[in-house]
Amino acid sequence: MLQTFLLAFVLAIVLVALIIGAYFYINTRSPPYLHDIPTKDAFVVVTGAASGIGKSTVDLLVAKKCFVFALDLNETLLKESFGDNKQVKIVTVNIANTDQVKEAASVIEQTLSQKKAKLAGLVNCAGVLYREYCGLVETDESEMNRMFGVNVFGLIRMTNAMYPLLGKNASIVNIASIAALIGLPFMSYYSATKFAVRGYSDTLRREFLGMHRVSCVEPGGTISNIAAHTPVVRETSILKDKVGSMFKVLMGDGEPTMQPSSAVAQVIVSCLFSSNAPAHVFADFWNMRVKFFLSHAFGTYLFDSTLEKAYTKPDDEFNKKYSLNKALAGKSE
Ligand SMILES: NC(=O)c1ccc[n+]([C@@H]2O[C@H](COP(=O)([O-])OP(=O)(O)OC[C@H]3O[C@@H](n4cnc5c(N)ncnc54)[C@H](O)[C@@H]3O)[C@@H](O)[C@H]2O)c1
Repeated sequence: MLQTFLLAFVLAIVLVALIIGAYFYINTRSPPYLHDIPTKDAFVVVTGAASGIGKSTVDLLVAKKCFVFALDLNETLLKESFGDNKQVKIVTVNIANTDQVKEAASVIEQTLSQKKAKLAGLVNCAGVLYREYCGLVETDESEMNRMFGVNVFGLIRMTNAMYPLLGKNASIVNIASIAALIGLPFMSYYSATKFAVRGYSDTLRREFLGMHRVSCVEPGGTISNIAAHTPVVRETSILKDKVGSMFKVLMGDGEPTMQPSSAVAQVIVSCLFSSNAPAHVFADFWNMRVKFFLSHAFGTYLFDSTLEKAYTKPDDEFNKKYSLNKALAGKSE
């Protein structure tokens, strides 16, 4: 009797361990991309192409023999990066401006019709972050409009403008963020824009089933220029004394480890050229994927209670360190 009970107990434990292991494996591994769509002479539009993740994506597409329309607001950087490249056509555009997007679309359309081609892909990568960290209730309306104007409405505007130029079974890759998976204090409206991108991508994918493929790539911390312009936490912010505690909880005691933008570009290009591209990919180091999976598995409890505890003991050393924005300031690759 005791033996049967022990055997059933051990079997139950093994079964539970197998289920947890399988769930864990499925949620933390990189998806097995098929890479079954030819890249040679494929025409791809990339926004935010002058720097960071967008630039690395253009570089990788060029290496794979694609022809790339590199779109960005920053003409100087575009010219510096791709001025002489025969596989790249640079198009200066502010995606927050409807007329400029229409103009860019007509330039792209003309080039495509000269080459008798259609677009194989669109990568919506252009994005902006807070200029100055502060709480949700303190964010200026202009800053709120700027972030939504580029990250959400600009991305939608570009998708609408490029849609008529897409070839059969084309791919759209939208860049959200880890901030689309977890609402990050101090990056509140940025987080809200990225949640919006994630939701938009999800619907677009379902509407396009059988027509085009849509993936949403959600990168973790990545070396780029995006945070280089974010100066400090606002001196008068109600959250000023909490910033150190928050970054300590998020990133640990040491300097944060950020992935190179080329790693995210690999994920983007794999999504573009794989017929089994996933709906969502959290692009980060495997240990970050595990950390994130575990914090999700425990619901909001683990993260929130750790934050709450940390908030009660302001950490002056960390506040000083992170209010100087060392946590996120990136170097351009
Ligand atoms: N760097 C990170 O840690 C990180 C993490 C998650 C998600 N992301 C997202 O990745 C994307 C790329 O960011 P990045 O880190 O490479 O930053 P980045 O600043 O290096 O590149 C962003 C590019 O977008 C361009 N851009 C900004 N506003 C524009 C506009 N209105 N019209 C046209 N171009 C415009 C900029 O000129 C810049 O070249 C963004 O959507 C960002 O939110 C970045």
